[in-house]
This record gives sequence, C-alpha cells and structure tokens, in this order.
Amino acid sequence: MKQKAVIPAGSEWVEKNVREFPGTPFARIGDEWTLITAGDKGNWNTMTASWGGLGVLWGKDVAFIFIRPVRYTFEFANANPLFTISFFDKSYRKALAVCGAKSGRDIDKAGETGLTPIVFKDGSIGFKEAAEVITCRKIYTHDFDPAKFLDPRIDAECYPQKDYHRMYVGAITGLQVKE
Ligand SMILES: Cc1cc2nc3c(=O)[nH]c(=O)nc-3n(C[C@H](O)[C@H](O)[C@H](O)COP(=O)(O)O)c2cc1C
Repeated sequence: MKQKAVIPAGSEWVEKNVREFPGTPFARIGDEWTLITAGDKGNWNTMTASWGGLGVLWGKDVAFIFIRPVRYTFEFANANPLFTISFFDKSYRKALAVCGAKSGRDIDKAGETGLTPIVFKDGSIGFKEAAEVITCRKIYTHDFDPAKFLDPRIDAECYPQKDYHRMYVGAITGLQVKE
C-alpha cells in the first residue's frame, strides 16, 4: 500500500546531540515503544518496535534495531541507507499498537492512525506527532544465527517460526526534538 505523502519538518524541530536524549532506553524503547521508519519521501514504511538499544560501538553513538524478515519494513530498512526511531508520549499508544499489528502492505498506516509523516533535511522520515526522533545511518547488519544462542530458550520462545531478526546498527546522525 502506498503510504501517505510526506511534508517537510517544521521549525519547531531542534537538532540536539543524542547524549541529551531524555530517559533511559529501557523505558523509552522497551516500555513506551517506538516507530522505526525507513525509506524516502516517495516510498517509506514504519512499524512499532519495543526491542532495540542505544549505546556506543566502534567509537560512535549508535542505535541497535531488530527486524524480522517477514515485516514490510524489512524491505525498506534493507533498501535505504537511513532509518529513524520516533518516540511518542502516552497519548499515541493506540497509534503505535496499530502500526505494530497491521502491515504497511495492507493499510495506509499514517492515514489509519492520524500520524503525519515528515522529512528532515537529511531525507529521513519521522512523524510530526513524535516528541523526539533519532536519525541514523546504517553501518552494519547481522542476521541472528540460531547456532549461536547460548540459552536454547531464546530460540524456542522467540522463534517458533524460525524468523530470526536482522540486527541493524545505525550510527546516530542526530536527535530531533520538538520544542
Ligand atoms: C509493542 C510491539 C513491539 C514490536 N517490536 C518489534 C521489533 O522490535 N521487531 C520486529 O520485527 N517486530 C516488532 N513488532 C511487530 C511489528 O511492529 C508488526 O509485525 C508490524 O505490523 C510490522 O509492520 P510492517 O509489515 O508494515 O513492517 C512489534 C509489535 C509491537 C506491538
């Protein structure tokens, strides 16, 4: 399904260093959930994610995201050099639940949730309604190898369909904060 047209991010967005990101990744990603968005303004997709991380690798501030190959977003994350992680306040929980239950193959996610896709100056796509958006450039991908799970419960509990996540490491290029 073709996703809704994207508008330029307005002047309410201020770029900050990611080290000013408020809260912990445990709460902001794990509890509050995020939207991972990849693509460009002509063709993009987004999905809800509550697994991921923010940290430091190879001397860079990075984000880790994990996408199962069956997701439509997987195609966009593979085909595009940039991705974003958008963070929302509690009032958008229902919108995030929709983006985590339905596929962009079948619905217009922005249309169905009322979220407004916006494009930042580097071409990354985020959402007008987000509180913060972390912009990333992919620097590494890795497909989880079941032979490497040291705790067999991970394979049994998380991968009954054997649809192992692909991990993407993104070098963080900025933190967009809506003021
Ligand atoms: C709270 C929540 C967290 C999720 N986290 C992930 C995740 O980290 N990785 C993943 O591949 N799917 C995750 N999903 C599932 C996708 O968001 C879901 O399958 C979505 O419909 C995929 O949309 P798409 O086909 O348009 O990409 C999560 C879903 C929910 C509700």
